[in-house]
Amino acid sequence: MKYYFAPMEGITGYVFRNAHRACYPGMDKYFSPFISPNSNTCMNSRERNDVLPEHNGSLELIPQILTNRAEDFLRTLEELADYGYREVNLNLGCPSGTVVPKGKGSGFLAFPDKLDAFLEEVCQGAEEKGISVSVKTRLGLEDEEKFPRLLEIYNRYPLKELIVHPRLRIDYYGKFPRMESFAYAVRESRAPVCYNGNLFARRDIESLSAQFPDVKAAMLGRGLLASPGLCAAAPGGEEEDRRTMRRFHDMVYEGYREISFGDKNVLFKMKEFWFFFIRRFSGGEKLLKKIRKAQRLSDYETAVDMVFGSLPLLDEADLSVLEK
Ligand SMILES: Cc1cc2nc3c(=O)[nH]c(=O)nc-3n(C[C@H](O)[C@H](O)[C@H](O)COP(=O)(O)O)c2cc1C
Repeated sequence: MKYYFAPMEGITGYVFRNAHRACYPGMDKYFSPFISPNSNTCMNSRERNDVLPEHNGSLELIPQILTNRAEDFLRTLEELADYGYREVNLNLGCPSGTVVPKGKGSGFLAFPDKLDAFLEEVCQGAEEKGISVSVKTRLGLEDEEKFPRLLEIYNRYPLKELIVHPRLRIDYYGKFPRMESFAYAVRESRAPVCYNGNLFARRDIESLSAQFPDVKAAMLGRGLLASPGLCAAAPGGEEEDRRTMRRFHDMVYEGYREISFGDKNVLFKMKEFWFFFIRRFSGGEKLLKKIRKAQRLSDYETAVDMVFGSLPLLDEADLSVLEK
């Protein structure tokens, strides 16, 4: 099985990715949070910084683009090709209320004819530049029955890979993934299929492999934010686990401090980080509150020392909070 780190806007930027790669080597690919071009610029400075080769070392990064305009996609692809990238990913999954009404992300799935024309132009342009295009898709907006039509469209193009997050837009990140539609994708897709959604523990990955032996790639998001070593070949014992988690945390924290966008921003980023990371610690709610309340770095550091110093590690992260 190949393992991909899912793109997660606001969390899995280059500081996070490099720390993860250093502490938990072995992921096959990392996907960048989406780049959202417009008719004037391909990328803003934050987006460009995130994909610059000097910020990503030898890490296998696939930049992701969110747009419904072929022209904007191709201009961005050209800039990415200049940086040395050979694959780009199209976001057809974002469920956000600021994206969907513009017909982007999962909002694009409501316009299959337009999507077809977009893919035709984009795949032709990409091929001329020697760049592969992969797609990360949901099943549709509100109606699973429309997925076969979308798959028929994807099958017309030489996509490098089809990453399927088998939910509808209306599911957001809740509810269980719709595995029957995923099975349909595995049977019918011309492109190799990668599974994404709710892989939170090793046994989830094992049961995916058992159920879909032909699926050779899995993308993980929230599971890896809570248990960053989830895809590591040989899990160590609790003490080693704790030491590596501490090292990982410290690298992320130091990384944000180094790019020095102010203590307030560092705290904001670390609070987002802890929303998931605390789930591996038993009884972490109280200290999570303390972390969230921290107004100064020194308060934050005290709370973090308390987490690492006092809370037992769970064998697997408790992500039940995501179901509420
Ligand atoms: C905070 C957050 C940010 C996300 N940002 C992106 C993004 O930029 N691009 C994307 O394709 N998906 C994004 N996603 C979706 C994830 O990549 C993934 O598809 C989703 O979380 C399901 O996988 P999981 O159950 O393994 O987390 C985001 C999800 C979350 C929770």
